[in-house]
This record gives sequence, structure tokens and C-alpha cells, in this order.
Amino acid sequence: MLTDSPEIAAGYVRRGGIVAFPTETVYGLGANVFDAEAVQRIFAAKARPADNPLIAHIADLSLINQLAATIPESARRLMKAFFPGPLTLVLPKTERVPKVATAGLDTIGVRMPAHDLAIRFLRACETPVVAPSANLSGRPSPTNWQAVHEDLDGRIDCILQGTATEIGIESTVVDCTSEIPLVLRSGGVTLEDLRTVVPETQVYLKQDHEPPRSPGMVHRHYCPRADVVLVSDLCFTPEQRSAWIGIECPASDRFDAISQCDSVEQYAQKLFAFFRECDRRGITRIYCQTVDESGFGVALMDRLRRASSGT
Ligand code: TXA
Ligand code: MG
Repeated sequence: MLTDSPEIAAGYVRRGGIVAFPTETVYGLGANVFDAEAVQRIFAAKARPADNPLIAHIADLSLINQLAATIPESARRLMKAFFPGPLTLVLPKTERVPKVATAGLDTIGVRMPAHDLAIRFLRACETPVVAPSANLSGRPSPTNWQAVHEDLDGRIDCILQGTATEIGIESTVVDCTSEIPLVLRSGGVTLEDLRTVVPETQVYLKQDHEPPRSPGMVHRHYCPRADVVLVSDLCFTPEQRSAWIGIECPASDRFDAISQCDSVEQYAQKLFAFFRECDRRGITRIYCQTVDESGFGVALMDRLRRASSGT
């Protein structure tokens, strides 16, 4: 079922269904966090590994007490500065949150999207909504409703149709359960931004002896069917049936598709839809220009590396 009505879409969630909806980052696939059976259906629809926890989305800060058992001071400051926005905070969870939503962890990621249609949908759901990105597991995240349809048609109850997403890559995930906030996944809010509010914030580096704090980050991600190759030097001879995306124009014109972007932000916004377009056109290799790893470029390079791993 396709609809542009947030009320109709929310009706499915209230009745135990699973519904894709737009946010400012990527489209999410939502269910009532307290309905363990509905949450389980999200994992099945996406073929998502059961060890990958979900993010709970809220429209009003008052709902956070249903999800988080305690809210550390650092988290309060980050919420004040960046909610609503592309930031997810990992907090100790309440008893009420079923373990299936958090993949067995006793923490939960919480985020408030900065997106009008998402907020209207979430309000009408009358409950916090857990939502991973609305793609088949491993595929590029969906940045328009057509991408959701391509991956999940027939596997979910409803798609709330909005416009293409503004940011195009996912939220920054910050673990606030220990003294020093740790960035588990880079995203829409930069490390520099976070440090203006909590200067101690660090980027998490997995130690050899411990299990990963962010289970999702070990899985294969964001991959088109085409090989993704990262390049910094514009002078090379592309293979046949290949495409280019970057900030500059490639030296060769032997590409079947070219996406030239004005900025790192626009590059991120276009990336996943371009991957999908290349797959539809039978392109077998996508050359992606590397960008400076500062500011928002950190998150973009993270996605590019993950998309290219194994090639
Ligand atoms: O922008 C976004 O965050 C999008 C939109 C829909 O909100 N959602 C999204 O969800 O990207 P997903 O499931 O594709 O990615 C969630 C990430 C994973 O890397 C997961 O491991 C991490 O967040 N995560 C979620 N809950 C966690 C927790 N309790 N502890 C550590 N990491 C967690
Ligand atoms: Mg995802």
C-alpha cells in the first residue's frame, strides 16, 4: 500500500504492521517498539541479521522516558543541541523495551528526526517507532520511496511517500552509556559539531578483545551489485560498462553514467540513488572519487569504504 497520508500510514503501525517512512537522512522501516512480533517482522522483511539493533524514533522528548532508563548529562546536552536532527543517542534501555528491538543489548538508540512528514507520522503512531533503514540488508539505504518499493514491495504493509531525503546518509550514532561519549557511526552530525557541545567526545575504536559496541557495523553494507572502486587520481582508463561519481569531472569520457556533485553534501545526497540507478542500467563498476576526511567528509568516506570493501 502506497500513501501520502501520515495518518493512514500510522494506522498500520497502531495495528501491528510495518511501514516505511521518510526522514531527513534515509527512509526507515518502522514498527511499534513495544510490539515484539511487529519488530520481529522488520528483521524478516529486510533479511536483517538478528544481532543488529534498531533505532527508536520519537516525535516528542517526553516519550524518551518510555525508552531510556537514565539519561546521562552528556546525552542531555547533545539532545538539547541536536534534537531534532540526524543524531542517534545510545542510552540504557527500560525493562519495557523488548530485547528483540535491541538485538539483546540492554541499551537502545534514540533519535528524533528533523522532518515534518516523519514527525506527523510518528505523532499519529502514538508510540516510539523502531526503524532501521528501509532497504534489504546489505543494499544501499533508500533515499526515495521508489528505492523502498524496489527492495521491499510485497514484504511490508505500507510506504509513506515523501520526497527524496535531504541528507542521503544515515544519522551519527553516539554511545552515551559511559563517561565519554563515543561515536559508533559517523553521519549527519559531524565530530566537530558534537565537540562544540561535549568536547570530550571520541570516536570509538574497537579493541581486539571486546565484542563490537555497534554490532551493525561489522556487517556488509551499502553495496550495489556493481563493484565500487575508490579513486583519488582523475587520470585512469575506465573499464567498460562503468560509471563515475565525484566532485570533479573525470579525465576520461568513456563512462556510461556520470554524476558530478557541487559539494560533499550533494555527493552524499546523491550517492545511494546513483548506486541503484547504475544497477538498473547494468553497470558493473562504479568509480567513486575520494573526498577530504574532515567534517561531513568523514561520514561520506565511511560509506564509500564500506560500499567498496571486497573489491
Ligand atoms: O538515519 C538513520 O539512523 C536511519 C533512519 C531511518 O533513522 N536509520 C538507520 O538504522 O540507519 P539502521 O538500522 O540501518 O542502522 C542502525 C545503526 C546500526 O549500525 C546499529 O548497530 C546501531 O545503529 N545501533 C542501534 N542501536 C544500537 C545500540 N543499542 N548500541 C549500539 N549500536 C546501536
Ligand atoms: Mg541500514
